[in-house]
Amino acid sequence: MRRYFTTPIYYVSDVPHLGHAYTTVVADAFARYHRLRGEATRYLTGTDDHGQKIERMAAAHGKSPKGYADEIAAAYRTTWQTFAIANDDFIRTTDPDHEAVVQELWRVWEKNGDVYLGHYEGWYCVACEQYYTEKELAVGSVCPVHQKPVEKIKEESFFFRLSAYQSKLQEFYDRVLRETGRPFVEPQIRMNEVRAFVDAGLNDFSASRTNFSWGVPVPDHPGHVVYVWLDALTNYYSATRREGLQGFWDDAVDIVHFMGKEITRFHAVYWPAMLMAAGLRPPSKIVAHGWWTVDGEKMSKTRGNVVDPNRLAADVGADAFRYFVLREVPLGADGDFSHQALLTRYNAELANDLGNLLNRTKALAERTPIEIRTSVPVADLGAAQAVREVDEAMAAYAPSKALEAIWKLVRRGNEFIDQASPWKKEGQALVEILWTVFNLCRVVSHLVEPFMPEKAREMRLQLGVASARFEWNDPWRFDGSFAKDKGAPLFPRIDEERKKELLSRWMPTPTPTPTLTPLVSYDEFSRFDFRVGEIVAAERIPKKDKLLKLSVDLGSERRQVVAGIAVAYGPEELLGRRVIFLANLKPAKIGGVVSEGMILAAGDPDVVALSALDRSCPPGTKVR
Ligand code: MSP
Repeated sequence: MRRYFTTPIYYVSDVPHLGHAYTTVVADAFARYHRLRGEATRYLTGTDDHGQKIERMAAAHGKSPKGYADEIAAAYRTTWQTFAIANDDFIRTTDPDHEAVVQELWRVWEKNGDVYLGHYEGWYCVACEQYYTEKELAVGSVCPVHQKPVEKIKEESFFFRLSAYQSKLQEFYDRVLRETGRPFVEPQIRMNEVRAFVDAGLNDFSASRTNFSWGVPVPDHPGHVVYVWLDALTNYYSATRREGLQGFWDDAVDIVHFMGKEITRFHAVYWPAMLMAAGLRPPSKIVAHGWWTVDGEKMSKTRGNVVDPNRLAADVGADAFRYFVLREVPLGADGDFSHQALLTRYNAELANDLGNLLNRTKALAERTPIEIRTSVPVADLGAAQAVREVDEAMAAYAPSKALEAIWKLVRRGNEFIDQASPWKKEGQALVEILWTVFNLCRVVSHLVEPFMPEKAREMRLQLGVASARFEWNDPWRFDGSFAKDKGAPLFPRIDEERKKELLSRWMPTPTPTPTLTPLVSYDEFSRFDFRVGEIVAAERIPKKDKLLKLSVDLGSERRQVVAGIAVAYGPEELLGRRVIFLANLKPAKIGGVVSEGMILAAGDPDVVALSALDRSCPPGTKVR
C-alpha cells in the first residue's frame, strides 16, 4: 500500500524546539519503517509562512515577512538534516504552486456556495490566529491559551459553510471505524473530543481576512486574504500536485497526518470538510500526540527552559534524542522531558544494552581467528517474533512499544552470550555461537533503523554488512559474511562528571530568593505613580543585547522606555501586553536612548517574567 505521512507545517515565528522535533521524528520513524518494509512512502514537512503573527514579528525585527520567513525556514531545514529526517519534500505556504492550489480550491468552494461573503465580529488572538467568542475567553477577557489581550474585530469576511458538513463528518467517522476497526483520530480520547464537538453542531467559520495582507489573496476579491488555517491545511494536498506525484491523493493511499493534540480539531473537522467541499477524499487518519513539559514545568521562553534539539544533538547525538522521545512516552500521552531521564536511558539502554551487545560481539570475533560465515540453521533467539511485535506496535501507532520489543531482543542477545560461554567453546560450536550473535546484531541494526537511522548504519558498517539486503518477513536469513574489525563504541558511556556538566548546561539554575530590603512607610510608597501601560511598539537597540526600546501607552500619553528584558522576551511577544508601569520615574539615558519610566518585571538581576494584570483594564488606570 502507498503511504503518505505528514507533520504540521510549523509557524516561522521561531526556530524549532523540542515539540517540533518530536512530531517530525515520530513521523520520520513511521515513514522509515514503511520504507523498510518495501512500501512506496512519501513524507512531507514544511513551514507555515503566512498570517498576521508572522507579519507583525517580521515588522518587529525590521524585516519583510518573506525575508523573515526565509531565515526561520532555513533553520528548520538545517535542524531536520541534523536529525536525519528523510522527508521527500519541504513545502512552504509561500511556494507559488501551493498558493495556486489554494486559490483553485477556493474557486471550487465559492462556486458551490461553500464559501460566501458576510460579516464577522469577534475577539481575535493573533498568537493563535483564531477568533474566540466572549464565552471562550479566560478571566480578564484574555486569550485562554496565551493569557494575552485579544482584539475586537469586525470585518467583511468570507465564511466557510462548515454547518453543512455535520452529518457528512459523522458518517465519515463512522465509516472509518467500520472499515478499519480503528477511530479516524488516534488516540480514542481525541476522537471522543472531536466527535463531541461535531455532535454539538457546527458553525460556519470565517475564511478570509481584510485587516492585514500577508497571505494568499482571495481570487477576484482584492483586500481579502485566505484565512491562514485554510491556506496551511491545503499544503498536504497541494504538495501532491507536484510533478510526478499524480495519484498520491487518491483512494488507494494511506494518508496519515501527525500533530500535537492542540490542533486536532483543525485537522479532524475543518480539513476533511474542506476536502469534501472540493470533491476530494479526506485523509485516512489523524494521529494526535501529547505535549511535553520540561523537567516538570511548562516549556516557555519566559521560564527559559525551551529545549533546543540542536544542542542535545551536539551533546549526546541526534539518534539518542530520537530514541529517548520515542521510547519515553507512549505516543498520544503527555510526557515530561526530564534531562536526567534522558541520561539514565542513554546509559542503561543505549550504552549498556545495545552498545554492549555490539561491543561484546566484536570482541568475541577478535579473539577468535575464524571466518564467521555459516548457513547452519541456528535458533533465531526471537528475531521473527520481535519483527511481528514491531509490526503490531507500529500498526497501533505505538512506537514506544516497538522499541520495547526490539530491546527484548537486544537483552536476549546479551543473555545468550552469557549462557553460551563462547570463550569455552571451539570449532563448529564456536562458529555457530558467533554467527548467532552477529546475525542478531544485524537484525537489530535493521529494526532500529526507523528510530535511529545513523546508528543503525554505523552498526552495519561495523558488522561489515553495510550493503546487505534485509528481508522484513524473513529477518533471520543471511548468506553473507561478517567483518571483524572493531569500530568505535556506538554510544560511549556518559560518566558522572560529564553527566553533571551536561545537566548544569541544560537546566537553567533557579535564581536564589534575595533577602528582603528594609521597611518603607505608606507615604513613601504612595509617591510612586504606578499605572497600567500597554506596550504598543517594541524594537531591539542595535548592539545592546539586553535592551529593548518600547513605546508604552498610558491612555493620555505615550512614553518611550528602555527595558532590560531582551534576554527573556523578543519584541514581537510584547505587542499588546498590559504591564504595571512606574510613570513618575525621572527620565534617564539608558544605552544612549532616553527612557521615561519603567515597566515592572520579576527577576533579579535577569528578568524572568513581566508584570501583568489578571483582568483587562484600560491603559492609564492607577495601580496601588
Ligand atoms: N502552523 C500550525 C500548523 C498548521 S498545520 C496545517 C502550527 N504551527 S506550530 O509551529 O505552532 O507547531 C505546532 C506543533 O508543534 C504541534 O502540533 C506539535 O506538533 C508541536 N509542538 C509544539 N509544542 C509542543 C510541545 N510542548 N510538545 C509536543 N509538541 C508540541 O500550529
